[in-house]
Amino acid sequence: MSTIRPAIKWSGSKRSQAHFIAKCAPSFKTYFEPFVGGASVAYAISPEYGVAGDLSKPLIELWNLILSSPEAAADYYEEHWTVLQTNKPDHFYVVRDYFNRTGDPRALLFLSRTCVNGLIRFNSAGEFNNSFHLSRPGINPNTLRHILVDWSLRLAKMSFLHGDYRETTESATTGDFIYLDPPYMNTVGRYFKQPTIDYSEFFSYLDSLNSKGIHWALSFDGSRGEKEYDHSLPSELYKTKLLLKSGHSTFRRVIDKEVEPVYESLFLNYDVDPGIFTETLR
Ligand SMILES: C[S@@+](CC[C@H](N)C(=O)[O-])C[C@H]1O[C@@H](n2cnc3c(N)ncnc32)[C@H](O)[C@@H]1O
Repeated sequence: MSTIRPAIKWSGSKRSQAHFIAKCAPSFKTYFEPFVGGASVAYAISPEYGVAGDLSKPLIELWNLILSSPEAAADYYEEHWTVLQTNKPDHFYVVRDYFNRTGDPRALLFLSRTCVNGLIRFNSAGEFNNSFHLSRPGINPNTLRHILVDWSLRLAKMSFLHGDYRETTESATTGDFIYLDPPYMNTVGRYFKQPTIDYSEFFSYLDSLNSKGIHWALSFDGSRGEKEYDHSLPSELYKTKLLLKSGHSTFRRVIDKEVEPVYESLFLNYDVDPGIFTETLR
């Protein structure tokens, strides 16, 4: 299956698993993705009707720009990328100051494609604080234009909301499907200073979805070698657990000088047809 080229690079992206997760989706009326981040699973599903949300306001403003005006977003990138090529790194910092004064999502897109490792990062005052990636020119404007237009078409039937996962899925009812990718327990604090999830409340939320007949799939703490991180999801909440290979852990590679596969868990509150399984699974 084709690799998904990101419109927004986002920490914790499920790009490598997105097509498989989409294959596991049941038939549904409305698709919900309340921890949307870089929206890779929404892209793979490309629903007829859907609602996405995230607690990060600048992220949602950027999604709304890409969905409503991909060409305008691409024009802004092209204009500033062209200036940047002859004025490095100063022009990056001009745009960064502008973004931090105005919150203009076009500027955030530019910063995300020219900063170190494409990592969108804010300080506690909400200011973008990653630096310019000196050794790279930034993605070619024409390539980015194609990517943005493609994403705007695939997500055309979705609306994106800024808010907590419970607000985003408030209108979900029987026959709908929710893909959940909350911040992992062992990485709380990566996106925000404070933990954004109370996991006992989250488990009650899953229980309430079960009683409403809403199907869900949940990416949750997986296993890394011998170490299991997923001990805490109560078994009565789900019906199926799959382990998906998600790549290799750079951290373990450095420490042990050997490559160790990383598995991430996907929990479903419904049964799946075993025919969909591929070598992606352990
Ligand atoms: C693991 S990332 C999602 C990555 C996404 N699946 C992708 O492929 O890019 C988790 C996301 O949850 C968001 N988040 C954290 N707490 C939240 C909350 N209480 N309600 C909604 N979103 C939240 C974070 O801003 C982050 O974008």
